[in-house]
Amino acid sequence: MQVDLHNSWSIGPVAIPSRLVLAPMAGVSVQAFRRQGRRYGAGLVCSEMVSCAGLHHKNERTLGYLRIASDEHPLAVQIFGAEPTVMAEAARMVEAAGADLVDINFGCPVRKVTKTGAGATLLEDPDRACRIVSAVAKAVDVPVSVKMRRGLENGSRACLDVGPRLVDAGAATLTLHPRSAKQMYTGEADHALTAEFVDRVDVPVIASGDITSRAKAQSVLATTRAVAVMVGRAAQGNPWVLREIMGDESEPTQEEVVAELILFMRETVRELGEHRATGFLKKFYSWYLGRGRFPRPFKQELVELKTFEEVEERLLAAAPGARFVLARLEEELPQGDEVRLDLPISIYGGG
Ligand SMILES: Cc1cc2nc3c(=O)[nH]c(=O)nc-3n(C[C@H](O)[C@H](O)[C@H](O)COP(=O)(O)O)c2cc1C
Repeated sequence: MQVDLHNSWSIGPVAIPSRLVLAPMAGVSVQAFRRQGRRYGAGLVCSEMVSCAGLHHKNERTLGYLRIASDEHPLAVQIFGAEPTVMAEAARMVEAAGADLVDINFGCPVRKVTKTGAGATLLEDPDRACRIVSAVAKAVDVPVSVKMRRGLENGSRACLDVGPRLVDAGAATLTLHPRSAKQMYTGEADHALTAEFVDRVDVPVIASGDITSRAKAQSVLATTRAVAVMVGRAAQGNPWVLREIMGDESEPTQEEVVAELILFMRETVRELGEHRATGFLKKFYSWYLGRGRFPRPFKQELVELKTFEEVEERLLAAAPGARFVLARLEEELPQGDEVRLDLPISIYGGG
């Protein structure tokens, strides 16, 4: 049975127009990524994880994460931390910034985060995890969601016990990435566990992990009865996978690829500033131009160029028709009301 990914669903009062969710990814999920994801069919997009301590201390870089554009909605902003009161305060800031959902990170496996008692560690400390969810849910009017892994150790089934408790504490939806924290990104996401998880909780579940094609999305939705699938790595430099998952299998032309990359570069430079964008964007060159789309030496050439103007020139020389696609894309972008808050431009590479 095919699931229609164009069906809308809701988290409390928040309507989500498709069954496809763009994953939060630290160092990737900038505004340009999220806006692009919405254009290509994601019904919900997420910020990368934001430190509640950073928000508490009004850290300039962390506050930069609360910039939300008018065409990103519905959008979840994800926070991480271990102190219920500080998480509640962060959630209020996220709500005030205009996010539609506050998402809580109980999945980050990175030591820098877990050693503070945050992220995936909380799967082994369910009392504290519930206190956090409860404090956050009481602090805001928008729905609260939680994104989690299966547990800390390989084979752990901790999520099956913790999940229902988080719902009792106030989580309106749960996302499961069924790998252990120890696995990081190795092995396979165990969606048989996702199916058990869906049976245990009475809120919508989003399935995350290894969704790389329409066929995989369909099979995970059918076998787990999750309400939606989340796509992460497959969408890096590749919004066309979202289009494919939604049912349009057409491969992008070289012109489309170059136009989307240049638009992404321009938006990211506006968001992060030229200096920070330089390092940030390098990985995107190979993500966009890889997959057999352009020869390998071409990507290397771009990385070695000094300025964004030179990179753009070189890209447009390789696909001259891209300038027309780019002009159309820029024309279609909503104008004005781009940034809801007058905040410093920054990025925190946490996690
Ligand atoms: C570079 C990178 C950064 C990530 N950052 C976050 C994050 O900030 N918050 C989070 O909940 N998950 C984060 N994740 C996990 C993804 O959201 C997703 O659950 C995981 O990558 C599995 O999905 P995939 O196979 O589609 O990539 C990150 C993953 C990657 C690869």
